[in-house]
Amino acid sequence: MKFTMKARHFPYEEKIRAFARKGYEVPPRRLLKSEKDVEGIRRSAAINMAALDAVAARIGVGMSTAAIDRIVHETTVSLGGVPAPLGYEGFPRSVCTSVNDEVCHGIPSENVILKDGDIVNVDCSTVYQGYYSDSSRMFLIGDVSAERRRLVEITKECVEIGIEQVIPWHVLGDMGAAVHAHARKHGYSVVRDVGGHGCGKEFHEDPFVSYVAAPGTGMLMVPGMVFTIEPMVNMGSDEIWIDDDNGWTIHTDDGLPSAQWEVQILVTETGHELLSW
Ligand code: MF3
Ligand code: CO
Repeated sequence: MKFTMKARHFPYEEKIRAFARKGYEVPPRRLLKSEKDVEGIRRSAAINMAALDAVAARIGVGMSTAAIDRIVHETTVSLGGVPAPLGYEGFPRSVCTSVNDEVCHGIPSENVILKDGDIVNVDCSTVYQGYYSDSSRMFLIGDVSAERRRLVEITKECVEIGIEQVIPWHVLGDMGAAVHAHARKHGYSVVRDVGGHGCGKEFHEDPFVSYVAAPGTGMLMVPGMVFTIEPMVNMGSDEIWIDDDNGWTIHTDDGLPSAQWEVQILVTETGHELLSW
């Protein structure tokens, strides 16, 4: 049989090629999510956010970070999801809990008891029917100093400012630079060596998303891309070290606190849509 068939296009194929010819770094096709993919990520994110909501309802002075892990695990599983961190490259728990000078990848423990004045990041990731979601929030434990509250608040503003810069056909560096500028304006530093990532069909996809990027650099933001905005903002220097004993937990070098909020965001034709927060 003879037949003619139109080549299967993906949206914006020609427009992306034109940007590539001009020297832009453009996303490979596999990073562009279909409407079906986005719907899958939304369902995964609903579970992810429910787990964070369950933590928010119960977290407080005297709770261990292992108890946070149990809340996340039970909520996620009861809704049909799987906690993405559990067993990921050997990670032993279902969520990351990073307290005070811990920058990220804190491992929940019975021995870490939240105390008055702590700030803690709870970083939750879910896989549901093959689709990944990822977001994190900060929690203030008891009576937190004004200095620490300000760090948490400004870090949230950094994410909000980054979100505003998610504009189709702009580049990721514009977003990262805006995040960095806001942190610096308040006397804070932003971690360079750990960043965000594409997320959806896998836990961690390209591109690496920097929050210390130069404007005008980085990958073109094309409708259908899904990635995280998750700057780690340090009260002091941006120097960090990794705990060799557990192979995961990253700390600030100067021992000063670090804060992080994370959202997962979709680039749309007209702007963006938050998928998980
Ligand atoms: N949720 C983290 C992120 O935002 C990744 C943690 S990897 C883990 O990218 F194994 F520690 F869970
Ligand atoms: Co992430």
